[in-house]
Amino acid sequence: MRIGVLTGGGDCPGLNAAIRAVVRYCVPRGSEVVGFLEGWRGVIEGNTRSLVVEDVRGILRQGGTILRTSRTNPFRLPETLQGMLQTWKQLGLDALIAIGGEDTLGVAARLYREHDWPVVGIPKTIDNDLNATDFTFGFDTAVSVATEAIDRLYTTAESHNRVMVLEVMGRHSGWIATYSGLAGGADFIAIPEREFTLDEICANVRARAERGRSFSILVVAEGARIKGLETQRTSKADEFGHTLLGGIGHMLAQCVEERTGFETRVTVLGHVQRGGTPTAYDRVLATRYGIRACELVYGAEFGQMVALSGNQIVSVDIDAAVAEPKTVPLDLASLAEIFFG
Ligand code: F6P
Repeated sequence: MRIGVLTGGGDCPGLNAAIRAVVRYCVPRGSEVVGFLEGWRGVIEGNTRSLVVEDVRGILRQGGTILRTSRTNPFRLPETLQGMLQTWKQLGLDALIAIGGEDTLGVAARLYREHDWPVVGIPKTIDNDLNATDFTFGFDTAVSVATEAIDRLYTTAESHNRVMVLEVMGRHSGWIATYSGLAGGADFIAIPEREFTLDEICANVRARAERGRSFSILVVAEGARIKGLETQRTSKADEFGHTLLGGIGHMLAQCVEERTGFETRVTVLGHVQRGGTPTAYDRVLATRYGIRACELVYGAEFGQMVALSGNQIVSVDIDAAVAEPKTVPLDLASLAEIFFG
């Protein structure tokens, strides 16, 4: 068999572990693995590199992706789609393993549905916002980085009697904010799943001070909804129409300082949470996903995405996975609130 593999969308730790698993499973079984460079752009342009076992030695612990990535959307223009369909025909591949989040897997789902492509999806994203799987790989690493940031902010906040605002990623869902906030003992966590008010945030900071804790850690997701504060949507949008968000952390810090009188500082974690070496959990999850994806390919079970259900790796309809983003359940958000203040 000739099996294509690509990584699309924002990179995340664990992508190389998944690529390695695909190569280590398929090549010894007599298949050729063709890596597309830079996500769907590589398929449009026919930009490929053949992957053999030697190519994936030592990459398990590497962040990023040896295939590189892009947010190219082949469905954006009719000519790019036509070009891609043409390239695909010429390459004569038997299957395509697409490793990505909602956008990349959304394209894979359409190619399966509308053009009968033999695709299998592997879910990755630090945001953990893909439906039909308990966890995406990349998320655990991002949470570990954000938790370490909270731990470090904690000691400096305490030394200076300051409020520290930590802005983490999460456009539509607050998974990173919720998990890192819980793990780091944050005094407030603001996420996109519900609207928060400045009054409730500031009340927490004041209540803590009254109990003798004159410092606070506030974690805010980049897409958090806080009444009266408008997350800035920059003019930059990617090919899937997502605008780059920014500014909520700084706005929150300024308002908290004005209202409470506490000196406040802000840290925007940004792409630090997306880079670097994957945690053991992400390496194992990505490896298990990679192997299961290959089993699906060998069994000609296409139009599927591998997923984690409890501790089992299962497969689900790829359409079900990308239909809607997975948001933080409000009972988990309420659980985190027990520890506020
Ligand atoms: O890949 C997901 C993500 O990290 C989001 O959390 C974030 O909003 C976005 O990507 C940032 O995009 P870019 O890589 O274009 O800066």
